Amino acid sequence: MRILISDDALAIACGADRVANAFAKAAPDAEIVRVSSWGMHWLEPLVEIELDGTRTGYGPVSPADVPAILDGRGDAIRIGDVAAHPFIAAQTRLTFARAGRTRPLSLDDYEATGGWAGLRAARAMTPQQIVETVTASGLRGRGGAGFPAGIKWKTVLDAPGARKYIVCNADEGDSGTFADRMLIEGDPYLLIEGMAIAGLATGADTGFVYVRSEYPHAIAKLEAAVAASRAIVAPFRIEVRTGAGAYVCGEETSLLNSLEGKRGEVRAKPPLPAHQGLFGRPTVINNVLTLAAVPFVLAEGPQAYADYGMGRSRGTMPIQLAGNIRHGGLFETAFGITLGELVDAIGGGTESGRPVRAVQVGGPLGAYFPPALFDTPFDYEAFAARDGLIGHGGVTVFDDRVDMAAQARFAMAFCAVESCGKCTPCRIGSTRGIETIDRIVANENRLANIALVEELCETMKFGSLCALGGFTPYPVLSALHHFPEDFGLKDAAE
Ligand code: NAI
Ligand code: SF4
Repeated sequence: MRILISDDALAIACGADRVANAFAKAAPDAEIVRVSSWGMHWLEPLVEIELDGTRTGYGPVSPADVPAILDGRGDAIRIGDVAAHPFIAAQTRLTFARAGRTRPLSLDDYEATGGWAGLRAARAMTPQQIVETVTASGLRGRGGAGFPAGIKWKTVLDAPGARKYIVCNADEGDSGTFADRMLIEGDPYLLIEGMAIAGLATGADTGFVYVRSEYPHAIAKLEAAVAASRAIVAPFRIEVRTGAGAYVCGEETSLLNSLEGKRGEVRAKPPLPAHQGLFGRPTVINNVLTLAAVPFVLAEGPQAYADYGMGRSRGTMPIQLAGNIRHGGLFETAFGITLGELVDAIGGGTESGRPVRAVQVGGPLGAYFPPALFDTPFDYEAFAARDGLIGHGGVTVFDDRVDMAAQARFAMAFCAVESCGKCTPCRIGSTRGIETIDRIVANENRLANIALVEELCETMKFGSLCALGGFTPYPVLSALHHFPEDFGLKDAAE
């Protein structure tokens, strides 16, 4: 008998280690295998019992459930075939194809499931051919901005200079997002393979992964994976660097400063990092999910990736369902699914059972969408057309008890705390924004102060140097425009 239990940080936080220990004591002859997480967070710790080649899932499992599961009881928490669960069966997992199925640090498991095929294909190509392949796939930056990855790589390939770098942004700072963490913890060789391909494409021999310090499990796994795969990706080499807890260090130029050992302050662009990045050298900076999508593109061909999606948003997006939602977790799907499908059909509505009132998409700098806009398809352009963004794919659900004026205030407060302080609209504007929202809520010159907040948001949007100050207006204005009653207005027309 084999007993499969995830060693992902979320599963561990839910008690996976205690459950594994309980199985080890109760079934000393069984082989306990620690695998990556399927990404069904409400079912963690999820356990699969493999007998005679058949796997049966149970979840969420507590140590007290162990005897019943081993005795063939445990009906109340039996899931059956996990791969056939509707939450998994409805997905298109290209990037997270191994989730739940392999041991994260096993080179055998990685190779047996198609690992290194993309790198082998890339090694048979010229740098230009690799870049053309990535461009043809339509892959866009998954960190949030959606810039075409192939064009970024071409800029670095064409930039003069003997020394170039690949930097992976794993400073996943958006609240409610976890796809980078899950990918690094669950399938670290995929990221390493993607970085090695980027190195071949651009002429870079060194890569850095900048991981947030709040991810100790991911850091440990990545360091172990880098060491174990060193000979496979050589002469490309990878170093892991840890952040120090600043949200703004997820902004690419701030991240570069931090990597160079400087204060994590934003740099003005131009020059673009693609021209002058790390230590002044041409640098590809891509998010974890962008680089992790690349091996599939090289192994299966660009069309196999581009076949998925809608409009200019090609391929799949690992969407992260979080907040007050019944079925939270990782849902990878082709672009084009509507927000309503995600929240109601896939997510099952709120965990509290109360009506959904607002959904914030794109992290703390993303806009709040009311159910009236649930027909919006998950697509960069469709969200932008409705004054929103898909960002890094975070979807955070709130029920009808949410106070949207408080959420708008939180956005300004978040900006004030996390501002790097370099430019005035963000550094000062965010604090004035908090004060002005407080006056609106206290009904002091309400209409005049609402106009002031709108004007302030305009200044922050167009006068800030980076997305932190520039995007804070999205949650503030969407809260104001879609939920005017929370600001003491009867409706949007008032
Ligand atoms: P941006 O639009 O300035 O740049 C996007 C990327 O394309 C950058 O890497 C930039 O260097 C590159 N680029 C632009 N023009 C180029 C050219 N001609 N050649 C080569 N490369 C070029 O956006 P930015 O400021 O990098 O990111 C903003 C986004 O970050 C927002 O959309 C937001 O959703 C996202 N974000 C993500 C967070 C996360 O936790 N993942 C947190 C906060 C914001
Ligand atoms: Fe720094 Fe804010 Fe300006 Fe960005 S917008 S550079 S975080 S002060």
